[in-house]
Amino acid sequence: MSSHRGKVVLVTGAGRGIGQAIADAHAAAGASVAYLDHDPKLAEAASEAARGRGATTLAVAADVADEASVRAAVARVTEAFGPVTVLVNNAGISPKSGADGKRARLGEMGTDEWRRVLDVNLTGAFLCASAVLPGMRAARKGAIVSVSSVAGKTYCDIVGVHYAATKAALIGFTKHLAGELGPDGITVNAVSPGRIDTPLMRGTAPDANEAARMATPLRRLGSPEDVAKTCLFLTSDDAAFVTGQVCDVAGGWLMT
Ligand SMILES: NC(=O)c1ccc[n+]([C@@H]2O[C@H](COP(=O)([O-])OP(=O)(O)OC[C@H]3O[C@@H](n4cnc5c(N)ncnc54)[C@H](O)[C@@H]3O)[C@@H](O)[C@H]2O)c1
Repeated sequence: MSSHRGKVVLVTGAGRGIGQAIADAHAAAGASVAYLDHDPKLAEAASEAARGRGATTLAVAADVADEASVRAAVARVTEAFGPVTVLVNNAGISPKSGADGKRARLGEMGTDEWRRVLDVNLTGAFLCASAVLPGMRAARKGAIVSVSSVAGKTYCDIVGVHYAATKAALIGFTKHLAGELGPDGITVNAVSPGRIDTPLMRGTAPDANEAARMATPLRRLGSPEDVAKTCLFLTSDDAAFVTGQVCDVAGGWLMT
């Protein structure tokens, strides 16, 4: 398959989990893909594995919450592959405290934890979109996909209020930018995963994940590849007239 040949793709949080699957799917579809992660070892290993399968990739170590780091990362990708035409804002954190994997509730959560979740999950998307915008504008094309969550659309007992607030905000971010950037030929969409089997999810109490599985009509947890395939559609030319949309990839869980 070469549906993405010629596209320059930047995926954040691509060192493992959903981000790695999204980056791998784009690499397999023929794009040049930058694997950005704040853990350099994860970024390098994921990028190297894809290169071993014949893909064109680059590992980039950066913290999406840090403006200088993001700008340097985008400059590196642009130098290696040309302007970024596809951005996937995937990097995200969902802090769980204690051995039981439960999230902090309001009243237990410190301001530092609140701010860090906003910085990574929301400001990170703003910084990355800002950094790639000049290249997309010049090319008069581009696709931005942000990874939200069903927890951004309805109450979900597994996550904290900081996480839910950022995932809801990414939906507003998506719809607003779809309106603002449409005239530049840039589409902006979001995916909204349910419970997806990744290291992040395994940090949650096992009974909570089993309860989510049983409440999911398709009776399984999602795979990172489930999310990646939907992203791949949204960044493909087949989705050229799709913008401002939020697509659940949740097996029917919560049906938000
Ligand atoms: N797993 C789920 O059930 C689920 C459900 C809904 C939404 N999501 C969202 O999907 C995205 C990926 O989740 P996952 O389950 O693959 O998580 P994960 O923890 O397995 O992977 C996240 C990756 O992001 C990287 N990362 C974290 N902070 C970063 C930062 N500041 N800068 C750059 N990279 C950073 C990590 O090093 C890691 O490689 C997140 O936005 C998450 O909120 C996950």
